[in-house]
Order: sequence, then C-alpha cells, then structure tokens
Amino acid sequence: MTYPLQKKDTSILYVEDEELLRKNIVTFLERRFNVVYSATNGMEGFELFSKHFPDIVITDILMPVMDGIEMVKRIKQLRPDMPIIITTAFSDTKYLMQAISLKVDGYVTKPIDYNNLMEAINRIIHFLTSKTLEASYTESLKRIQRMLSGAIDALAYAIESRDPYTAGHQKRVARLAGAICTQMGYTEEEVRKIEIVGMIHDIGKISIPAEILMKPFDLQDIEMSLLHNHCKVGFDILKNIEFPFPVAEIVYQHHERLDGSGYPRGLTKDDIFFEARIISVADVVESMSSHRPYRPSRGIDKAIEEIVAHRGTFYDTEIVDACVALFTKGYNLSST
Ligand SMILES: [Fe+2]
Ligand SMILES: [Fe+2]
Repeated sequence: MTYPLQKKDTSILYVEDEELLRKNIVTFLERRFNVVYSATNGMEGFELFSKHFPDIVITDILMPVMDGIEMVKRIKQLRPDMPIIITTAFSDTKYLMQAISLKVDGYVTKPIDYNNLMEAINRIIHFLTSKTLEASYTESLKRIQRMLSGAIDALAYAIESRDPYTAGHQKRVARLAGAICTQMGYTEEEVRKIEIVGMIHDIGKISIPAEILMKPFDLQDIEMSLLHNHCKVGFDILKNIEFPFPVAEIVYQHHERLDGSGYPRGLTKDDIFFEARIISVADVVESMSSHRPYRPSRGIDKAIEEIVAHRGTFYDTEIVDACVALFTKGYNLSST
C-alpha cells in the first residue's frame, strides 16, 4: 500500500492509553515519519505538545488522568488552528459530539484501520502544504509588486525630470483609467495593472525633442512621425523588463483605435488589449481637458463629447459608458 502524500519531515504526536494499540500505531507511523512522539494520557500528551509543537496530533478520547477532550481544549488554546485527529469507538458518541464542537480535523474509528488513518493524516498534510505554498506565493507576489512599484517610480521620475507636463498627464491618466476600471467592476488587481501602465504610457516621449512636445499643432510630417514614434520607443524601453503582464505591448497600443485609424500599427478591435483601450479613453479625456502652457484646455465637456461621438468606432462602448458615468457622478480629473 502506498501513501503518496506522506512527508518524512512531518512530526506527529500520538496519544493512546491502550498499550498494544499504541505500540502498533507508533511502529506504523515511525516507518513513515521521522518524528513520532507518543503519550499514554492527555496530561502527558499536552506536556509533549508544549515541548515539541508537532505538526499533527492524533489522540484517543477516553483516557485516565486527563481525557482527550480536555487535552484538545488546552492545545487549541495555545494553537487554535492545530490539526488534530480523534480516534474513537462508535460507542463514544457523547465524547465524539464534544470533539466535533472543538473543531478537530479528522476522526478515525476504532478498531483503527491503517488506510483510514493515513487518509486522515494525508488530508491534513495536503492542507498544510497548500497553506505553506499559498503563503510563499503571497510573499513572492508582494516582493514582485514592491520591485514593480520601484521600477515604475524610477521610469516616471525619468520623464518627470525632463518633461513635467507629460509626468502630470501620466498621473492623471493612471488615476482616471483606474477609476474607469473600478466603475466597470474589475478587481483591485486589474485596477492596479491599469494604473501602472497609465503611469508610464508616454515614457517613449523621453526621446522626443522638447520643442516638438511643446507644439503639438501644426507639426511638420517629420515632427508628427517622431511624435507618433513615442509608442514604439516606449515599447522598446519596456520590452526587456519582466513585468507580470504585457506592459510594453499595452504601451505600444495606447493610440490605436478600434476601427484601425489609430497609430502606430493601425490595429483593430480584438487585436487591441483591454488595458490599452482603457488607457486610450483616459488619455484623450485628460489631454483634451487639461491646460498646457502652449494651448488652453478644451474642457471636460468637449472631451466627453469626443469619446461619445466615437463610441464604438474609435473607443470601446463599455469603456466610454463607464467614463461618462464617472463624470456624471462628479469625478474630478485634477484632484489627487
Ligand atoms: Fe501617448
Ligand atoms: Fe498620453
């Protein structure tokens, strides 16, 4: 018989007053686990527990000196989530009910069947392993997020030191895009992704001469193509950074339009990432309604008119609707 989940490094405390049974079970467990403690009653069991803190406790109920119920109560006071398996005869219903109320993790009826016992132990090991994995996954996710925030801040700072207007624009786009995402009912994680891309979506403008950035109207063809190139430059800057989602590609796409009239690649509909569609709406709304030193604001009403006029052609209908709903509720673009 194989027990695939058994783990050698799991430590077990077994408490049983009946000597022969205790010896047999201990021998069985010792063949499978490195550390097995055994005790003859609840008092002794609790002492061993307090000294060694094993991973799993297996205990009988009816024992002299201190019964299993009292011992489990004491253990649970120390460690409320301690995994405990009760071994009991069917006739011990009164005690069994008490054990259930103590929220133990498994029951094995007497006479003990080794398969049932291993099944109960393995179920707990499986649970403990997945809990450990989950904890280490959460920890590494947090570490990645910290690294990511650092990289984003550094990139945002790089552009801010050269072009404060683009930096302010990116912050407001990030905030608006996140708010649209929330309005659409997406998760906090999705909102955070959108905000990250928003913070650096125009990073490629770092390569554009300041004179061109300052006069986005009446541009010569060559100047226009330089400006349009900021999406590709942004992609090139970001493509080798290992983000947990395709930040570089989203940045590449943020001026594309659903009908293919956008730039730089003239992508259409499903070829444009959802995140890029949101950034494009937030980008237009922010750009049109913000003041720049070289041009006045066209106002939020004009900006909303623009996205509504091109709802379904340039811009995703649901994203436009969510954006309009936000401003109807009084969203303030400039508040931080
Ligand atoms: Fe842009
Ligand atoms: Fe932008």
